[in-house]
Amino acid sequence: MSLIPEIQKRRTFAIVSHPDAGKTTLTEKLLLFGGAIQVAGAVKSNKIKRHATSDFMEIERQRGISVATSVMAFEYNGLKINILDTPGHQDFAEDTYRTLTAVDSAIVVIDVAKGVEPQTEKLVEVCRMRNTPMIVFINKLDREGRDGFELLDEIEDKLGLTVCPLSWPIGMGQRFKGVYNLFESKLNLFQPHGQQEAEETIAIEDTSSDLLDHHVGSAEAKELRDDLEIVRTVYPAFDQEAYLNGELSPVFFGSAINNFGVKELLDCFIHIAPPPKPRETEERRVEPAEDQFSGFIFKIHANMDPKHRDRIAFLRICSGKFERNTNYLHVRQGRTMKFSNPTAFMAAKKSIVDEAFPGDIVGLYDSSNFKIGDTLTGGETLHFKGIPSFSPEQFRYINNANPLKAKQLDKGLAQLTEEGVAQLFTKEDNARKIVGTVGVLQFEVIQYRLEHEYGASCTYEPLSLHKACWLTSEKKGAIAKIVKERKKDMARDKEGHLVFLAESAWALKMAQENYPDIKFHFKWDF
Ligand code: G4P
Repeated sequence: MSLIPEIQKRRTFAIVSHPDAGKTTLTEKLLLFGGAIQVAGAVKSNKIKRHATSDFMEIERQRGISVATSVMAFEYNGLKINILDTPGHQDFAEDTYRTLTAVDSAIVVIDVAKGVEPQTEKLVEVCRMRNTPMIVFINKLDREGRDGFELLDEIEDKLGLTVCPLSWPIGMGQRFKGVYNLFESKLNLFQPHGQQEAEETIAIEDTSSDLLDHHVGSAEAKELRDDLEIVRTVYPAFDQEAYLNGELSPVFFGSAINNFGVKELLDCFIHIAPPPKPRETEERRVEPAEDQFSGFIFKIHANMDPKHRDRIAFLRICSGKFERNTNYLHVRQGRTMKFSNPTAFMAAKKSIVDEAFPGDIVGLYDSSNFKIGDTLTGGETLHFKGIPSFSPEQFRYINNANPLKAKQLDKGLAQLTEEGVAQLFTKEDNARKIVGTVGVLQFEVIQYRLEHEYGASCTYEPLSLHKACWLTSEKKGAIAKIVKERKKDMARDKEGHLVFLAESAWALKMAQENYPDIKFHFKWDF
């Protein structure tokens, strides 16, 4: 059987945004369109609320719930859409970075009043590293916000994207009349709190037509014509090839909460977004339509129930057909494994699947066999590339608080770092262990989980570090030299790779100047 029809049907993507820009709301509206949920509010439980940010147990509980919504699949217009959820809390940004390695495209949500925010910048950077095609959705047009052109300038400057508006707003906030859809040459009139059916669209091929004045008023019609004139002269026309190469990002305006502009976004998305693409491995390029199954683990989620130490490993299928109860090669361990209850996620529902295709995500129950970046294949030795580890931003020394439980502590730390909760470094000079994380919350999470899941207890000591940089050099002896001269600043990650621990931005700059033959990397591919 040819896999091509199944592959062509799939669109696997993530919605990324700075917290509160409207990612959850947009996801929910998309699911409503797809009939995957029936009522608004169904996805809300996934959201880690602001007021809960200091309560890590609440966050872990919500992360537990979010397993169910890790992948939200639905059918729309004959396509199978897989939305990969990304954690809302920025302390879990690394989970998001890794999830982005498993998608074929992304939608970036920006709040019209706030514009580009820090988390948006980081997430888009990760997408850009992999040339992931991105569509931008500017949200909350029902509120007063920034001028459209000013926002597009900011998106180009701060996010480094070349944009091409495919819709344009008519007014904003109280004066918001709707958007003109350049992709389909039609006018969408805004009705506050409108339902999807209530959205009124009028085909207007020629924007000089009186029809426009009739629907939005003369002043607004004139403003729109002037704006569109600028849009057409300043921005490139939409080009499918450029979008697919990650070189051009279409932009839509709307209001997710009012379900306005969402259907246009979805209809354009299914039209232009890519089906599963070939993927690079260290050995060769893997085409999705190959007969042989292959896939990689991009996320591992621990079961929150301490009585069950099992975890769910999320597998992105890259090629071939994945089948239940079939032997596959776990490349790193060099042994075969089969899975009796692989799970697929449909919105809030989980179900056991018999088969899955490229672009699909399958949850595998795992008792510590997997770590992030692991490859499964039909037999060939392949290693998928591009699952990055980023320099942590917070560091602490970790000490064993109970000498009788040293083994448990080591085991717990090894497993938690395999899940990607944190990174572990061992200093070269004194073998002390350092935990590095993206956000401070993870320190509490680790301490709690070590105690409750492994019976180990730990304490932390503050450590002021700016970055941990992985080192490479093409010059023989250069690495040995820095290790010898700067031993107190050197450590190894859990794979044994050397890292330089920079105390400050200045110390890092000095080291880069003093060791010109060495490259200092802020990220590392597994
Ligand atoms: P996130 O997942 O990106 O963090 O954002 P989320 O969708 O939860 O939206 C953040 C807040 O913005 C929510 O309000 C949501 O209702 C609101 N919102 C989303 N889209 C729009 C929009 O188009 N217009 C307006 N005016 N607001 C929008 P909240 O008060 O924080 O939460 P809730 O009490 O409404 O759940």
